[in-house]
Amino acid sequence: MKLRTLGKTGFKVSEIGLGCWQLGNDFGPVEDTQAAQILNSAMQAGINFYDTADVYGGGLSETRIGQWKAPLSNAPIIATKVGRDGALYPDGYSKASIKASLQASMKRLNVEIIDLAQLHCVPRDVLFDGEILNWMADLQQEGLIRHFGASVEMLDEALFCTTHPKLATLQILFNLLRQDAIDELLPAAANNDIGIIVRLPLASGLLSGKMKKDQVFAESDHRHYNVDGAAFHVGETFNGLPYNKGVSLVDELRPMLDPDQSMTELALRWILDQPAVSTVIAGASRAEQVISNANASELAPLSLQQHHQLKTFYTERVRDHIRGGI
Ligand SMILES: NC(=O)c1ccc[n+]([C@@H]2O[C@H](COP(=O)([O-])OP(=O)(O)OC[C@H]3O[C@@H](n4cnc5c(N)ncnc54)[C@H](OP(=O)(O)O)[C@@H]3O)[C@@H](O)[C@H]2O)c1
Repeated sequence: MKLRTLGKTGFKVSEIGLGCWQLGNDFGPVEDTQAAQILNSAMQAGINFYDTADVYGGGLSETRIGQWKAPLSNAPIIATKVGRDGALYPDGYSKASIKASLQASMKRLNVEIIDLAQLHCVPRDVLFDGEILNWMADLQQEGLIRHFGASVEMLDEALFCTTHPKLATLQILFNLLRQDAIDELLPAAANNDIGIIVRLPLASGLLSGKMKKDQVFAESDHRHYNVDGAAFHVGETFNGLPYNKGVSLVDELRPMLDPDQSMTELALRWILDQPAVSTVIAGASRAEQVISNANASELAPLSLQQHHQLKTFYTERVRDHIRGGI
């Protein structure tokens, strides 16, 4: 597993990290033993960066990570998020309410200081007001968090965050079916020493290549209840694509695969080929997926021809179908 520097944190993080939303059972039920297998296989594959949030399973994801890492001698880097729990979202934001949420996360994670706390897709007006980023800097100064960053929905929100002098990381939607960050955001992040954490690298699983049209997901899975944005931002589940459209677009990618290259490899390698990216937090519902995803770090970069084809595919075939804005 290769390591990259995570912006101003200076942390050396694995190129492939682990997204831990599924550990809150928000992709359908994950038993405790299965959760432990996912985390253990990630550690064995060299993954040292784990992304969670206070709201994943109402704190279950953080609690599971806290219990799992307690006996480990080599502590992994845990990034959590704050800003979407009921005490804050949509209009309860203050330095005190954020501090209280972070203190609750610290208990669940079993830590005395949080490695990285990210604002969790807070409302646009709250973000653009700018004060919330200063509160995070104050809480860093107070010793609650080592570093802070922001997870955002839109590129203009990400660009706004790059102007804050203390912001260490940005978590963005970025994958073969959402490529726009390449033009302006990735260079701006690199210029400001901001680590890019890529979420949804497989577009909620579409880019595994295994999904079928009209597939039915468990009722407790956001790919069921948020398929058209009924519960949270429409741009999040399946990357904002109408599900069946997403499946047919992935079918269009198949002829672009090299012999012996899987869709997952193509998708993850394409992201890792961007030097401004620090880590890719792929989600996984099984240990085998974690191991397979981790292997992308060992693969050779894609050819220039493949990169060119994939860019054309995105601009001509995909971009117009993304809902919720970019
Ligand atoms: N607003 C935010 O800040 C925000 C929002 C969303 C996500 N996130 C973070 O980003 C992380 C990743 O996002 P995500 O899990 O939603 O999306 P993702 O990584 O694009 O997709 C994960 C899904 O892809 C499938 N998969 C993964 N590896 C596979 C493999 N090797 N082969 C076949 N299928 C594979 C699995 O689906 P099956 O379970 O169907 O097999 C898995 O549940 C989350 O865990 C979370 O930490 C943050």
